[in-house]
Amino acid sequence: MENLKLKKHHKLIVAADGGAASGKTTGAKKISKKYGLKFLSSGILYRFASYQLLKHKPKNKITFLKKIFNKLNLKKLNKINLHTAEISEHTSIIAKEKKVRVILKLFQRKFAKKFKKVCIEGRDIGTVILPKADIKFYFVCSLNIAAKRRFKELRKKDKNVKLFDVKKSLKIRNNRDKNRKNSPLIQSKDAVIVRTDKLKNIPGMMSKMSEIVEKKIKEKYGS
Ligand code: C5P
Repeated sequence: MENLKLKKHHKLIVAADGGAASGKTTGAKKISKKYGLKFLSSGILYRFASYQLLKHKPKNKITFLKKIFNKLNLKKLNKINLHTAEISEHTSIIAKEKKVRVILKLFQRKFAKKFKKVCIEGRDIGTVILPKADIKFYFVCSLNIAAKRRFKELRKKDKNVKLFDVKKSLKIRNNRDKNRKNSPLIQSKDAVIVRTDKLKNIPGMMSKMSEIVEKKIKEKYGS
């Protein structure tokens, strides 16, 4: 690999999809950093929508969410704990609603249009949000590994968390995300699979992803 860099006028759209705790956030963040892409976690947007709905219980959810996402400052989101069990569960319920998804779709598309060199991760990025993405990654790993991975993260904040419960909730959430009518989690036909079962194999994952990114840069802009 040559460690190609994108130039100022270049455009590159990367979609990264996968189940809960499949390693997609780590992969997408690292590749974004390496190639100077603006990163967005769409899961965080859904989680924020859930957080706001739980907090304010508005009469009209859709009008309320439209307002929130019109003036959303992404930096603010880092300061809120959006990974509680309550929010995770509620998020995957509201994420089934078409009208909620439309609001977030507009937000994500505007983001891609504005920054031009972007990587968005989620469930429906390659299939619905950015179907013309230059590169699509689809992250896969076993439920056991995903649960261990998420358990380790959650344990840092909450010593009472149990692996059994984490695994159960990931399974429910993945089933809900895969089987819903609107924008289910499915692999786009043109997506490249990234397996992340081996917890320690981040360099391996990075070299596979980098190879694909560099091939695309060459294809679009020459060497
Ligand atoms: O990625 P993360 O686990 O933070 O996503 C939380 C939830 O948000 C998912 O379980 C899913 O229900 C919803 N989501 C979605 N579409 C996306 C991203 C997240 O439905 N593009």
